[in-house]
Parts: sequence; C-alpha cells; structure tokens
Amino acid sequence: MGRRTAVLISGSGSNLQALLDATALPGSSAEIVLIVSNRADAFGLERARRAGVPARVIPHRGYPDRASFDAAVDAALRDAGVELVCLAGFMRLLTAPFVEAWRDRMLNIHPSLLPSFRGADAHVQALMAGVRVSGCTVHLVRPEMDTGPILLQGLVPVLPDDTVETLSRRTLEVEHVCYPRALELLASGRVTIAAGLARIDGIAPGRLLVRHPLLDAG
Ligand code: GRF
Repeated sequence: MGRRTAVLISGSGSNLQALLDATALPGSSAEIVLIVSNRADAFGLERARRAGVPARVIPHRGYPDRASFDAAVDAALRDAGVELVCLAGFMRLLTAPFVEAWRDRMLNIHPSLLPSFRGADAHVQALMAGVRVSGCTVHLVRPEMDTGPILLQGLVPVLPDDTVETLSRRTLEVEHVCYPRALELLASGRVTIAAGLARIDGIAPGRLLVRHPLLDAG
C-alpha cells in the first residue's frame, strides 16, 4: 500500500487521470484514496467514479470565507487518513494555515517554467512574452501562489502559430509525465528541503527534466 494521497480538482482532471493511472501500477509508492472537487460539474469526478476512488464535492460557495472552506477540505482529508495532497487544476487560493498544515506534503502543477508566468493565465503570459520555450513545473506548495521548492520541470516548445489552446494541449502532454513522477519522488521519501530548495536523492538529474518530443524534432 502506498502513501495515502488526495487529489484536489476543479475541472477536467486530465492530470488527475495521469495520477490515477500511474498509482494503479504495481510498485507505486502512492495510492489515491480521495478526490476533492470544489465544483459539482468537474469532469474529474467522472474519472474518480470510473476509477472507483471516493470523491467529495465541497462547494466553496457554501462557505462564508476561505478559512471555513479550507477547514472543511482539511477535515475531509483527515477523515480519509490522507498523508499527501496533489493540487491538480484546483482553482481556489488556499489560506496560509491550510498550506502550512500540509507543508512539504502538498504538490501543485503549474503550466509554466516557474518562476516565470505565475497565476491563472500562464499560457497567455508566455505567448505575450514571445518565449520560445515554455513548460510546466511541479513544486511543493507555499502560501504565496505558484511558489515553493521545485521538484521537476517539463520543457515544451512554443510554436509560431500557437494559441492558448494549442500551447496548453502540448503542455498537458508533459504535465502528464511530470506529475506522476514527482508524486512518486515525494511518496518514496526521496525529497528533502534545504534552504528553501528541494534536494532529490537517488535519481539521475535528467529524470527531473521532461522534454516534449517536438523540442528535438527538426
Ligand atoms: C493544468 O494545466 C495545470 O497545470 C493547471 O491547471 C490545468 C489543469 O488541467 N494547474 P486538468 O484539469 O488536469 O486537465
């Protein structure tokens, strides 16, 4: 049995799917035991049902403030005996007390090469900046949005005619490789934090950088 892991979602849940698929394989150090969505219409809930993993809808509108919403999420995690948390397209800012309660046990995936392009519109920012390479970052969560020790990054080329849709689709391809790999590193106890940076033992450095195949084409 792997470390008991919850995934928090708000939408499609394609990263959730990648995590479900990877943790279902023999030898996984993590096991997904709970899925929490703040939205009842998130497609990720259908993915949870298909995988046979318990899901809870905790609608943020049902709570007077962020602190009481976060307390409800925290209670759901503790009821399920959760040890690790993955934010996967969870579109709510979490309060500092919640983040600190799960310090070094909560991962997030962001669709840019942090620290560039923090926030909800990362792909718009990348296209506006004209960068030739973008990507994704899996990091431990700290109270300030899209900050925290980086475990792994994925590299994706930005092509001349890219739109937010094409760039986000290409970026998701590497996200789905990076996120399960990062969870495995955390769940297997190979991550230590020193001076605000993540140190990862027993893995070749190249495994911490995922390249989209198009980077090396032509
Ligand atoms: C991903 O791009 C992720 O990086 C960002 O939100 C998106 C979620 O997509 N945080 P999905 O719901 O996993 O398909």
